[in-house]
Amino acid sequence: MYRKLLLTLFLSLLIGVLAACGGSSESDAGETESATDDGAEAEKTDGKVYTVATDNAYVPFEYLDEESGDLVGFDIDLITALAEEAGIEIEIETLEFAGIVAGLGSGKFDIGIAGMTITEERKENIDFTQPYYEAGLILAVTEENADEIQSIDDVDGKVVATRQGSTSQEYLEENTEATPEAFPEIVEAYQNVLAGRADAVLYDLPNVQYYSEKEAGGKLKTVGEKLTGEDYGIGFPKGSELRDKIDDALTTIKENGTYDDIYEKWFGERPEGTEK
Ligand code: ARG
Repeated sequence: MYRKLLLTLFLSLLIGVLAACGGSSESDAGETESATDDGAEAEKTDGKVYTVATDNAYVPFEYLDEESGDLVGFDIDLITALAEEAGIEIEIETLEFAGIVAGLGSGKFDIGIAGMTITEERKENIDFTQPYYEAGLILAVTEENADEIQSIDDVDGKVVATRQGSTSQEYLEENTEATPEAFPEIVEAYQNVLAGRADAVLYDLPNVQYYSEKEAGGKLKTVGEKLTGEDYGIGFPKGSELRDKIDDALTTIKENGTYDDIYEKWFGERPEGTEK
């Protein structure tokens, strides 16, 4: 009787120890698994790869680095930071600007970032985030034309080069009596002005400035006031769920300084109204 009790005690102890071992080894395994990289990644993204459409010839927002051939620029850094913040995986595709606007409208791409101005007309087919950059249009001429063309008021009857499908083309058509000449690549517009085949170029201020300083060796100069507000937004096909995700991420990185760091990297100063 005494022995039987001991045996029972021993057996129940053994079972208890085994159970405890089993239990703890199981939970250990569970913890290790969820701490692996795979587990963390799976939680961070939804497993899909979203296509981002952009351009490759719009300094300093998106262009090919001359030495490395890599696609670089403010928009590229921005969308990379936003995707990370929003926890989505992206793949970047480049094509010409008018194709980006059209492709977003038809749902061919998930996201578009290309220094694209938020306009009422585009809003009919595209959903935009809040503005992420405030640009404006500016006129530029060569030294030879600087006396004759001092502002947009002097372009009537002149040939003004710009980019196809851009807000500048629309501006020229709607607000001036100039003859717009719109090229598929803005570099062609600049080259035509430098070669004297067009009288002036109208385009987004940051691009004109960057091009005239870095590429045109001071031969192209801006004239007159900055025209109209051009708020750049990131675009999505109508009704896309990504719009709010990326918009929230944009709010976050504007608040936490990431946006300012990227801005400073490309524009040499922090955006107005912010301090380091
Ligand atoms: N902001 C102007 C527009 O939306 C020009 C943009 C050109 N962007 C580009 N990636 N080429 O029409």
